[in-house]
Amino acid sequence: MWIDVLRRESGAATPYLQRFLYEPEEETETVATALTRLNERADLRDATGAAAEPIRWACSCLQKKCGACAMVIDGVPRLACDARLSSFKRGVRLEPLRKFPVVADLIVDRSVLRENLAAMRVWFNSDAAMHSRAAAVGYEASRCLQCGCCLEVCPNFAPGGRFVGMAAALPVTRLLAELPAAEQAELAALYRERVFEGCGKSLACRTICPAEIDIDAMLVNSNAVAVWKRLLRNVDKPRKK
Ligand code: SF4
Ligand code: SF4
Ligand code: FES
Repeated sequence: MWIDVLRRESGAATPYLQRFLYEPEEETETVATALTRLNERADLRDATGAAAEPIRWACSCLQKKCGACAMVIDGVPRLACDARLSSFKRGVRLEPLRKFPVVADLIVDRSVLRENLAAMRVWFNSDAAMHSRAAAVGYEASRCLQCGCCLEVCPNFAPGGRFVGMAAALPVTRLLAELPAAEQAELAALYRERVFEGCGKSLACRTICPAEIDIDAMLVNSNAVAVWKRLLRNVDKPRKK
């Protein structure tokens, strides 16, 4: 089969497509296996026979746990370690995620994910209150890999914009579930501004999420804490004369 890789040298403005030939030895091989084995070749050559530099890509766990290997695979953001070669017919095209600056080849700089978490003040100032309902929400939200696939397909996310996307919203969901009520106000205000007001609820992020996180349930939970409870409280207040 052929493997097309969109390559970009550090500092170069224009990427180019380079084709490699690769025959999987096992049914279970993934895009990550192919990239590893191509790079293991002592004399890596492209499909024309020209010498090629090793393909730059990132990985850590190789078992859908770290999110590092996210890339665009045949037009779809996915994890390379979760994309079986047997699901592609004659070949596959690999490109870096498109909403982040490219470092080299398939490696992107996802600093914006960390910056958005910092902007949302995702940390505890005191002990969290654990109860069974919070544990279920906290567990589901904590499965987020911070891979960025959801941001790739989100029509409302742009790096540097006000809307932080689901990769930042999920850790906030977890905190909103676990923080004592008295400490929720600041985070709830940030959530309303930077998640609730920007999210169109299309749930494209849920369809693409490689961790298959129940994103709509997470949104329902955090919207209930940060938006609807507050509105209901205001409705209950007696009107000033
Ligand atoms: S929500 Fe899913 S797609 Fe988005 S960063 Fe987390 S794991 Fe990746
Ligand atoms: S529901 Fe739609 S707008 Fe909201 S984060 Fe997901 S893809 Fe983006
Ligand atoms: S290498 Fe960790 S998710 Fe693919």
